[in-house]
Amino acid sequence: MDALAIIDKYYPEENELKHILLVHSRSVADKALQIADRHPELNLDRQFLEEAALLHDIGIFLTSAPDICCFGDKPYICHGSLGAELMRREGYPRHALVCERHTGAGLSLAQIEHEHLPVPHREMVPVSLEEQVICFADKFFSKTRLDREKSLEKALRSLEPYGKEGVARFKSWCERFL
Ligand SMILES: [Fe+2]
Repeated sequence: MDALAIIDKYYPEENELKHILLVHSRSVADKALQIADRHPELNLDRQFLEEAALLHDIGIFLTSAPDICCFGDKPYICHGSLGAELMRREGYPRHALVCERHTGAGLSLAQIEHEHLPVPHREMVPVSLEEQVICFADKFFSKTRLDREKSLEKALRSLEPYGKEGVARFKSWCERFL
């Protein structure tokens, strides 16, 4: 697949939003590939890692997040499942799972129901190693500060709003992936 061609299809204009998406997604892809290089024992699928990392945030344009130039009408937390819908329509169900399972450190069905989150009611915790690595790598890059990687402390802090479960998952990933 040509991940950049898929991005071009949904982001036809060369504007600030597309710039944010491309820079952020490249950073996440590079970090995921770096984890693959450092951990040959994980046997990660490098090609899939790169493609899915480039596409994991494809759904952001459908949401409302004016600070990162997203002027859609859906809540930002939906960008994962919205992106997954696009990827399924494109014929890439495996990449779709990366999209919908990368929010926070993943969203469990229990958490979605308990907090009445406006996302589809299904388990959205990363399962495959590639899903876990991309979700993990994503936590080191914001879309408002594109020029630097977050410290581990900051990455951890960004997960606090999602609750203890996600923080614990992230800590277990630190042991495996760093
Ligand atoms: Fe992301």
